[in-house]
Amino acid sequence: MHSSIRAWASAVTTFVATVSAATTSVPVTPHASYSSSIGVLGCKVNTNRIAYWPMAVDCNNICVSLSYEGRQVYLLRIDQSGGAHDVSYDAWNYLITGKSATADPTAGGAIQMDTENVDASKCAGLINTSGSKLPLSAANSMNFLNSCLEKQADGNDSWVASNYVLYNILDPICTYGYNEVCTLRDWPDQNQATCPNTLGDPVSLTSQPVYNIEYPTGKKVLAGSSASSSSGATPNTIVAASSGGCTNMFTCQPLLFLAFGLCAVLQSFFISL
Ligand SMILES: *[C@@H]1O[C@H](CO)[C@@H](O)[C@H](O)[C@H]1NC(C)=O
Ligand SMILES: *[C@@H]1O[C@H](CO)[C@@H](O)[C@H](O)[C@H]1NC(C)=O
Repeated sequence: MHSSIRAWASAVTTFVATVSAATTSVPVTPHASYSSSIGVLGCKVNTNRIAYWPMAVDCNNICVSLSYEGRQVYLLRIDQSGGAHDVSYDAWNYLITGKSATADPTAGGAIQMDTENVDASKCAGLINTSGSKLPLSAANSMNFLNSCLEKQADGNDSWVASNYVLYNILDPICTYGYNEVCTLRDWPDQNQATCPNTLGDPVSLTSQPVYNIEYPTGKKVLAGSSASSSSGATPNTIVAASSGGCTNMFTCQPLLFLAFGLCAVLQSFFISL
């Protein structure tokens, strides 16, 4: 009897050890402004479920699970932070309080939570494209996409290489370009996508708004518009400020987009000559 209990206990211990091997505990902080270092389009994904991790974004581990005190969410890991484990304010707020940041905004600093990489299919519900393919900027995501396609051509397939869709939208907060799908017709000979309109044309785009949830008011604000004075609910506690959104060129230098866009326009112009 005792030995069978010991065997059972040891089996449980082994099981727990095996499961927790893939899970790590990280200090998680809230992130208010949507960004994506690889150019994932915020107008096609759930910007309230994003992970901003210190590691570079890779071609496979695009989806992570994060849990805290019995609550759990899946997050798209499509941006690199300056060192912190940031997540969308709404996800952070839900994990801590069980409520959306718009309903019950809470403020605070780093909270230790459990995370693990999971299969990309778990994040399908966070992506609003046909087949839940990863929506990338045709003008500004080619460095990342190219790296995944090159690995695939060398025999290392990846989720991104087989599950991407390009749009003629220039920036992650979807304020420039055309809401249209582009295709890579002749990769690798040609690593520029073909779009119905000129690739990278920086026309103003207003039909695909991206919203952020302002920290710590819980107010929904249009991304790219200047933050308005807070009139949202009063947060429960004020501890530390959330980390800023300026973690990469996509958030820090919007003008770069215009530069890239113009380059793409000029290149396609010369190619067509
Ligand atoms: C998903 O995209 C379609 C347009 O392609 C849009 O009509 C719909 O509102 C979007 N759904 C969500 C949840 O954003
Ligand atoms: C495939 O990826 C593995 C691990 O990243 C790497 O060690 C290997 O060299 C790659 N193989 C090819 C053919 O690129």
